[in-house]
Amino acid sequence: MRTLAWLLLLVLAGCEREVASMYRQPRFDPGDGTPLFADGRAERPPPPGSVPAATGDLAATSSGRRGRTELAARAAAVAASAPPPLTRALLQRGQDRYGAYCVPCHSPVGDGDGPVVRRGFPQPPSYDEPRLRAAPDRHFYDVITQGHGVMPAYGDRVAPQDRWAIVAYIRALQWSRQAPVAQLPPSLRQRLEAQGAR
Ligand code: HEC
Repeated sequence: MRTLAWLLLLVLAGCEREVASMYRQPRFDPGDGTPLFADGRAERPPPPGSVPAATGDLAATSSGRRGRTELAARAAAVAASAPPPLTRALLQRGQDRYGAYCVPCHSPVGDGDGPVVRRGFPQPPSYDEPRLRAAPDRHFYDVITQGHGVMPAYGDRVAPQDRWAIVAYIRALQWSRQAPVAQLPPSLRQRLEAQGAR
C-alpha cells in the first residue's frame, strides 16, 4: 500500500511539472528585446498596407474594443467627407482600381458582362441604365463600401479616397457610352469615321 502511495505521488508530481510548463512557455511580451532581428526588437513592424483592427491608446488592451470604436469613428468621418476634386490623376487611379476590383463582374466598359458573370455569377445592371446615370455619386460610393444585394462589400479593400476615384471613373464610363461625337478629340473622331467608312 505504501509503495502504491509513493508511486502515485511520483506520477502526480510529474503532471504538475507538465501543467506548469504550459503556463511558462517561451514567448516575447510587448517591448521585449531579442538579438534575433537587426533592430533588437521582438515586436515586428506591420507589413506595408496592413490595416489596423484598432488604434489609439487602448488598442492593445485585451479586447481592443475602445480602439476599434475610435477607428470606426474616424472611418465614419472620412466617409462623410466630400469627394476630392476631379483631376486626371484621380481618374487614372480610378481606372486602375476599377480594373482590379470591379471589372471581373462589371466588365471594362461597365455593361455588367464581366468574366465572372459569364461563368454564372448574377449579372449586375449596366452603369448606363437611366436609374444609375441619374444616381448621385454618393450612391456608388456607398455600394462600394457596403455592397448591394448579391454584390459583396469592398469597404475593407478599397480605401475611401480610392472609392471616390472609382466613382469618378464610373462617371467617365457612363459619359463614354453616350458621348457626343463633336466632343471627341480629333484623333478619336478620325478613327471613328474610318471605322464607319468600312
Ligand atoms: C463579384 C461580382 C461583382 C464585383 C466584383 C463588383 N460588383 Fe457591383 N454588382 C454586382 C452585382 C451582381 C450587382 C447587382 C446586385 C443586386 O442587385 O443584387 C452589382 C451592382 C452594382 C451597382 C448598382 C447598384 C444599384 O443601385 O443597383 C453598382 C453601382 C456597383 N455594383 C458598383 C461596383 C463597383 C464600383 C465595384 C468595384 C469596386 C463592383 N461593383 C464590384 C457584382 C459585382
